[in-house]
Amino acid sequence: MLSEGAVGEGLVADDGVIVGYPPERAVPAGLSVGRDARLRSGTVLYTGSQIGARLQTGHNVVIREQCELGDDVSIWSGSVVDYGCRIGDGAKIHTNCYVAQFSEIGAGAFLAPGVTFANDLYPGRADSADAMTGPWIGAGAQIGVNVTILPYVRIGAGAIIGAGAVVTRDVPAGVVAYGNPAVARGAVAGLPAIAQRIEVDAGVESRPRWRSHG
Ligand SMILES: CC(C)(COP(=O)(O)OP(=O)(O)OC[C@H]1O[C@@H](n2cnc3c(N)ncnc32)[C@H](O)[C@@H]1OP(=O)(O)O)[C@@H](O)C(=O)NCCC(=O)NCCS
Repeated sequence: MLSEGAVGEGLVADDGVIVGYPPERAVPAGLSVGRDARLRSGTVLYTGSQIGARLQTGHNVVIREQCELGDDVSIWSGSVVDYGCRIGDGAKIHTNCYVAQFSEIGAGAFLAPGVTFANDLYPGRADSADAMTGPWIGAGAQIGVNVTILPYVRIGAGAIIGAGAVVTRDVPAGVVAYGNPAVARGAVAGLPAIAQRIEVDAGVESRPRWRSHG
């Protein structure tokens, strides 16, 4: 199902890719995908989204309707971008992520595997559904593995959210935050050089280990 004229030159799509899947929601039907997209098997792009150049998808990726994606966005296997999301240039979404409706991801931001966004504060309640809004992720922010971010939360540009955090409140730009609930623990600029944290394991050089203290 490839809608004519929707896709720029240079598309490389595996068998089993669907470009132009019709949404059941009544939204404008147009779809545009910029040039040189690389779409791997199982990718489904709904109509009604505007996508920039050089989109890369892994396997079994879904991008719903009413989304706006910039250039050079990559979305890896098993991830879903629900409807009404905005994703900036160069953002990277790793495997098995869920980007909830009406989320925003800034340019160059990164979601590690298993990141989940929520957008409905009181599920099942009509007033909450009416106000559904996913998180807002600032440019260049790095969201660690298996992080959960609640509705309305704003993560400042360049922040790092530690693995497994549940983020319930806004995080300022340039801050390292983690825990459940996540709290600010320091500045990204204050993190040590990696070489201070690890040492080469003589037995397996490709696998460094924590540097011992003292
Ligand atoms: C948050 C993070 C950047 C902190 O790094 P750091 O400042 O070097 O932290 P440290 O290793 O010095 O740990 C400091 C303390 O916080 C704890 N801690 C570190 N990360 C934590 C996390 N994500 N959740 C809960 N506690 C954490 C440590 O156990 C340690 O506690 P202790 O002093 O009682 O031993 C890092 O731990 C992290 O989670 N990085 C993200 C990894 C990731 O998901 N990468 C994605 C690509 S695969």
